[in-house]
Amino acid sequence: MINMFRRDFLLGSSALVLGQAGKSLASGDETTGLKDRAARRGMTYGCALGADQISRQPLLVKRIVQECGILVPENDLKWRVTGENPVRPDYSRGESLVRFATQHGMLLRGHTAAWYKSQPDWAVAALTSAEAVALVIERVQSVVGHFSGRIVEWDVVNEAVEPRDGLPNRLRNSPEYRYGGLEYIADCFHAARGADPKAKLYYNDYGLEYDSEDEEARRRGVLDLLSALKAANTPVDGLGIQSHLKVGNRFNAERFRRFLGDVASLGLEIRLTELDVNDERVQGDPIVRDEAVASHARAFLAAALEETAVRGVLTWGLSDSTSWLSSTVSRRDGSKPRPLPLDAMMLRKPLWTAIAESFDGAPIRN
Ligand code: XIL
Repeated sequence: MINMFRRDFLLGSSALVLGQAGKSLASGDETTGLKDRAARRGMTYGCALGADQISRQPLLVKRIVQECGILVPENDLKWRVTGENPVRPDYSRGESLVRFATQHGMLLRGHTAAWYKSQPDWAVAALTSAEAVALVIERVQSVVGHFSGRIVEWDVVNEAVEPRDGLPNRLRNSPEYRYGGLEYIADCFHAARGADPKAKLYYNDYGLEYDSEDEEARRRGVLDLLSALKAANTPVDGLGIQSHLKVGNRFNAERFRRFLGDVASLGLEIRLTELDVNDERVQGDPIVRDEAVASHARAFLAAALEETAVRGVLTWGLSDSTSWLSSTVSRRDGSKPRPLPLDAMMLRKPLWTAIAESFDGAPIRN
């Protein structure tokens, strides 16, 4: 036990040294953040956070202000969080985030108006008839309307594609779908447009990145969905590609680029919305793991940012200390995953450099 602790401590300090070296090499000066590297190419960079972190984690907040031009609530605007009371939604956490973003001149992304996975219990119980659709639409109107003019971009519908559910159109066989068909998705977008005519409206999904049959089916499902929405004049402006990456998964740059090109040719913009890199399969010390994470992300970002329809990148958190993967990934050596640009000490890791240099290498957007 003692040896284990000592080993972690030593490895921790070598990672610290590497982090500092990486920082001075990569950025030149400490005030240049990822947001600046992105802005030089006409893109934005930001991360997910929670309202409770604003008061409780001053060091993280300081680094978020340095690095981010845009923020997205990790959970605070999800229906399950705001909707405990069916008649009076609680938007107080969202309001804190709006205040914080405004105070620091940052933009805010909305996440997410309609997601099958985050519904309050009373809503789940009520999604048993054609009224299911009306409930979901009402929720979209409420949250988008409440923040109208203050949130620049919304993930209106999240994760509505699921080829494994076996429907011919590869959509998820959710109650909303069963009672509303494809139109329920279009209706969510119409409701969002009505509630905030200026916000950019995104469809957001995962499992679109890798070279597997499963992900190819997801890409096809998403493309078909977006094509159908566009053909029906639905107000959809963009595709959010979650980008939860995992070292060891097979990536095919050409195949992925083709997908981005197909999305772009529908007249849509694209954002990488939840980037992080799961290092579950990488054994070794933090230095080895951090390099593996960075090089995996580099290959992905090189392909993604070459497509000028891609308007920016958000990571799902900024520091390893707050990543959702800490509670979902179990590493064989018992250590925490290292999926984000900053380590738990808030120092820049090789992933930070990989993201910064990927922005540098991308064509300029206008
Ligand atoms: C995750 C959060 O990070 C967790 O804290 C929460 O417990 C569950 O949701 N795709 C999404 C995000 O669109 O909303 C999810 O966020 C991660 C997967």
